[in-house]
This record gives sequence, structure tokens and C-alpha cells, in this order.
Amino acid sequence: MKKITISLITVLFFFQLTYLENIHAQNPETDTGSSRLEWFGEAKLGIFIHWGIYGVNGIDESWSFFNALISYEDYMKQLDGFTAKNYKPEEWAKLIKESGARYSVITSKHHDGVALWDSRFSDLNVVKKTPAGRDLLEPFVESLRKEKIKVGLYYSLLDWSFPDYPNFTRAEKRYENDSLRWEKFVRFNLGQIEELMDNYKPDLIWFDGDWEQSAKKWHAKQIRELLLQKNPNVIINSRLQGYGDYATPEQGLPIYEPEKKYWELCMTMNDSWGYQGNDKNYKTPYQIIRIFADVISLGGNLLLDIGPKPDGTIPEEQTHILKELGKWTKKHEQAIFGTKAGIPREYFDGPSTLSADGKTLYLFVTGKPNGPIMLKGLKNKINSIYVVGSGIKLAHDIKMKAWWSKTPGLVFIDVPDDVLDGYITVIALSLADGEIDLFK
Ligand code: GLC
Repeated sequence: MKKITISLITVLFFFQLTYLENIHAQNPETDTGSSRLEWFGEAKLGIFIHWGIYGVNGIDESWSFFNALISYEDYMKQLDGFTAKNYKPEEWAKLIKESGARYSVITSKHHDGVALWDSRFSDLNVVKKTPAGRDLLEPFVESLRKEKIKVGLYYSLLDWSFPDYPNFTRAEKRYENDSLRWEKFVRFNLGQIEELMDNYKPDLIWFDGDWEQSAKKWHAKQIRELLLQKNPNVIINSRLQGYGDYATPEQGLPIYEPEKKYWELCMTMNDSWGYQGNDKNYKTPYQIIRIFADVISLGGNLLLDIGPKPDGTIPEEQTHILKELGKWTKKHEQAIFGTKAGIPREYFDGPSTLSADGKTLYLFVTGKPNGPIMLKGLKNKINSIYVVGSGIKLAHDIKMKAWWSKTPGLVFIDVPDDVLDGYITVIALSLADGEIDLFK
């Protein structure tokens, strides 16, 4: 009897162990990756780069042939116009640095399958098939490292050019079910991913196109394991069918703080990811800064996209935005990098952030106030209030503080015209009595 009980307990114990292991493996979110993701959470700003042959005609990256707006043959004719002859990776990295960004993510290969490096696994790359004739990733990665900017590589899981990938265009499939051909594709995909890890040792892998297949078909778990085995610190975006680390809302500014602790909004400057000379619908530097303020106020990162021309020059409008953004981020560094999400809008009518220790509150004053700005429900006493960037001290006044009530008074802060920033003014409140404490 005793023996049976003991073996039953042992069986149950192992059952539970495997069960827990399975849950863990299926749900990478349980691996909070906190230390791995630490730099990412502090980084706040990244620059996304869509650089590919689609810039030659100035059409949509990959989608233009997938959606039959151009034939595949004509799309691929763009290979001949991709020269990279004015490509200056050190200048790219310097400009990115100037913008204030702490990381950058470049399209190593988009859905069209054209790789920016000399892949062993396919000749469809800029080295073998375009006048550029050289590896374009390597010098950029090196330049980023010199500027101490984290290196991210975008990689499209799906490859509409690969002969054994099932989907070719929206209307045309190469095959429905053919496990041999699919396995051939998987080997190729894993091969390229491993090649990227070995060659460039990226800090971040930014997958795309996962929607076309299931986690099982992509071998998502295996991909995640491969990446972490190659670099235990690597960060993976969410587009790996549940096996990524952080959420990537695209082109849509969240209204409320997303559920995932780590997230990143990816966004174009105009309406195109790649270079499209006719697209002049640029957001202004103010609009981008305004969006950025909201993103960090909600605890996220902004991955702002540029689309260099096929010769490697960055369009003037984009350079201008990066420089203007850079002036603003430099001046307001302390209110941006390393901060956490701010306070709810009910307390302050605008974006805000908090220092990592929660003892400094940063209020983002958009526009030109007609009178003092108001803050509600702050239980802490205030040590001092000053303008970020200039350090100018600001006067404040507390109203509606009844001695018999627990409700904190209203803090009115004077923000005179001559302290206003050309874009968004940031006011710091150094708080007394420890971390911020809000009245509910
Ligand atoms: C989408 C598109 C792609 C673009 C990407 C950037 O998934 O497929 O063209 O590169 O978003 O986030």
C-alpha cells in the first residue's frame, strides 16, 4: 500500500513538473525577461529603417507586387537601380544618435525576400543582385555600436520570393499542402535567422509577417530558443506568434496604457515605410514630439521610421525631423529616458512621466497656457518646481486645501511665456516624502 502511495506521489510530482514546464514553454510571457528587457524599457526612442529596392520606383515595400499593383518581374527590375552609392553608414548612425534614439532597427529582409547582406542561403540579396554589390548591414551595425546605439534587425518570417514558400501573391499560391517543400522553407528561414545572429550579433530581432502561418509551422518556439541560445540577452518583438517579448502596436497611438509592460509603437513619418518621393504627408516635428510625449506618458517606446533613398541618402524632410526631435530630446533628456509611465489624466490634463524612483514628476505642457497649470490629488509636499532644460524655478500656489479634509489642495503652477519651449515645455516637480502618492 505504502509503495503504491509513494509511486503515485512520484508520478503526480513529475506530471506537475512537466505540466509547469509546458506552460512555461508555451507562454514565454511567464519568462518576464525583466533584466533582459531593462535597457529596452529605458530606451524610449528607436529609429526604424526601411531600406530596400522598393525605393527605386518609390512604391510600397513588397506589398505592391503581392497586391498586383505591379508585376513581380517589374518589381524585381528595381534591383538594377539599387546602388547605395552615397551610403554613409557612419552618418546615419550619427544622425540617429543626434535624434536621441537609443536603438535602431533596420530591415535586413522585407517580405520581398531581398536581403541586405550576402546570405549563404539565397542569392536574392543586394550583394549578388544589385549594383550596391556589398554587405550593407555590416558597416551600419558597426557604426551603431560606435555610437553606443543598440542594434536591431527586422526580419520578415514570410518570404514571398522564396520558391518553396507557399504564398506568392494575394491571388497566387505556389502550393496548398506540401510538407516537404514547407520543410525546405523552414530550413532556409532558420538558416538565415542563424546567419543574422552569427554575423551581426543583434541586441534585438524584430520579426514581421508572422500572421501568415501558425507558431507551430514557423517553429516559433525553436526560433526563440535559437535566438536566446545565440545571445541570452537578445530581445524579440511580439510578431512571433506568441513567442516574443514585447507588444508592437503599429500606426495607432494607444489611448490607455497597454496591458503588456513593455511595448513599442512603430510609426512612419509620412504614410510610407520605405522611400516614396511623392508622399509628402509628413507629420510635423511638433506632431511627432506630441505623439512621442503620449507614448512615454503611457510607458512605451516610439520606433520612428525613416526610408532612405536607394542611393543611401536620407530624404531632407526626414533628416529635418530627426534633428528637431534631437534638440527637444536633448533638452528634456531627464524627463524622457529611464522614466516610467506618468500619472492618469484625471490628475493632470496632459502627458507626464515619472523618474525611475518615482520622486520626480514631469508634466508636459502642450501649448501656451493662459494661466497657471493645475495638478490635482497630489498628497506629497513639493520640494521645488523647475523647467526642465533651463532649471528656472517656478512659483506655485495651493488652493482649496481645507484643514479638515483629506483631499489634497489644487496645485497651480505659473508657467510664464518666457520659459516656454518651442515645442513642448516640461516642468519637473521634485516631491518630498518619498514616491509620488496620489489621492483617490
Ligand atoms: C507591416 C507591413 C510592413 C511593414 C511593417 C512595419 O507589418 O507588412 O510592410 O514593414 O508593418 O511595422
